[in-house]
Amino acid sequence: MELVTNSLKILNEEDKKDLDVARISEDEISTAKRKLYIESYGCQMNFADSEIVASILRENDFATTSKIEEAELILLNTCAIRENAEQKVRHRLQHLVPMKQKRKNVKIGILGCMAERLKTKLLEEEKVVDMVVGPDAYRDLPNLINEVEDGQKAVNVFLSREETYADITPIRLDSNGVTAFISIMRGCDNMCSFCVVPYTRGRERSRDPHSIVKEATELFEQGYREVTLLGQNVDSYKWKSTETAQENIVTFANLLEMVALVNPDLRVRFSTSHPKDITDEVLYTIKKYDNICKYIHLPAQSGSSRILELMNRTYDREWYIGKIDRIREILGEECGISQDMIAGFCTETEEDHQDTLSLMDYVKYDYGYMFAYSERPNTPAAKKLQDDVPNEIKNRRLAEIIAKQREHSLERNQMSIGKVYKVLIEGFSKRSNEHLSGRNDQNKMIIFPKGNHQKGEYVNVMITECSSATLIGHIVE
Ligand code: SAH
Ligand code: SF4
Ligand code: F3S
Repeated sequence: MELVTNSLKILNEEDKKDLDVARISEDEISTAKRKLYIESYGCQMNFADSEIVASILRENDFATTSKIEEAELILLNTCAIRENAEQKVRHRLQHLVPMKQKRKNVKIGILGCMAERLKTKLLEEEKVVDMVVGPDAYRDLPNLINEVEDGQKAVNVFLSREETYADITPIRLDSNGVTAFISIMRGCDNMCSFCVVPYTRGRERSRDPHSIVKEATELFEQGYREVTLLGQNVDSYKWKSTETAQENIVTFANLLEMVALVNPDLRVRFSTSHPKDITDEVLYTIKKYDNICKYIHLPAQSGSSRILELMNRTYDREWYIGKIDRIREILGEECGISQDMIAGFCTETEEDHQDTLSLMDYVKYDYGYMFAYSERPNTPAAKKLQDDVPNEIKNRRLAEIIAKQREHSLERNQMSIGKVYKVLIEGFSKRSNEHLSGRNDQNKMIIFPKGNHQKGEYVNVMITECSSATLIGHIVE
């Protein structure tokens, strides 16, 4: 049992229903003649990449469509983080077989992390697939499509040390027109022992800060009011400027400040922070700017120092608690904090599991994304450790972690009752067109009667009720 299949995101319970797969809801208005349908799985970096792919292919006469039946090119941008993420894509491919038999001209491409992990094996195992393209090879898509149209199967899974797609303006897919994601870096150098990302995304590299600020500025001019800076480990963002003779380094704290200065009405979020890298400088920058959201996604993965060591997270329980204390000290009790946890990692004992639960009791996270350990081939854990916690035990521990998180989410939400928050309106509530929804600084979803307001506006909302997932209130002037 898993709450969600991906976690690098700034989403709430409200959004979770839509998380696993995002299809394009609005068709691109374009004079392009060919139709492209793209489906994204996994984390927000993949969703952001799909927007880059749409942009690259627009140059090649493709416009996106939400109707799979009218597309001549179907792309699945895939995730490999856990086995069930891959299973989902395999099932989806099975469903596409009859369509491909009926419409011989349809081409199917697999993009993203599963493409990178499985490479040509994917073509052998899934006959319906025409093209396999890794996350650093999207500029080559037009050539690969040509090869496929010439009747060949096409593969490009080269990983790059430089590619950041910095110059490509993403085409915003499935957008509410108010909030957007900006990739600030790619890859990961951390080598957590359970994780496939370093193998599917390659080496860590940061994107030119000027291109990030430019993208944020353009989004603001188009009416967007919130950007989320994305990376597997944003706190290790680092750009060496060569503009002056003197070497000038832009850190993540510097970048946050640069984006916050785009406009005080542009909210800034970021994800994911690695506990080993988040610095006081980052925390003070968050404190300094009202438009940087007081919310930190700080995955712990486990509360046991022994397990953290086996996971190669490079911090222990005490270090993690030290970071939490520092966040509370600098940003106050109100700062939202969320977690990722893995239940049943190799050799995890009942005592280790209790350490996870007690860490949760200490922190009282606002939200969490929780998973049963899934062994991934060729990762250090798969090579060196035994996946020896039986499934029933993994699932029981996971259920306990989820139950505890629900309690804490409710408790934290109840603390909001009677308070007034500045909310950025993102659209109508899913349940009614008489209600709007939006989030506060702490990333909590708030629902309230619409009055004369609309999306993209900031309003002050007084909270009157809550569940563990949502706050309910009304606008106060
Ligand atoms: N870069 C982020 C995490 C990206 S992956 C970070 O370091 O925090 C998102 C989450 O998926 C991880 O935080 C972890 O909780 C989970 N995850 C990764 N590999 C997993 C595996 N093999 N089994 C179960 N969960 C996993
Ligand atoms: Fe994976 Fe660890 Fe990198 Fe996160 S920091 S992507 S968990 S290797
Ligand atoms: Fe993201 Fe999944 Fe790849 S979580 S980085 S799409 S393995």
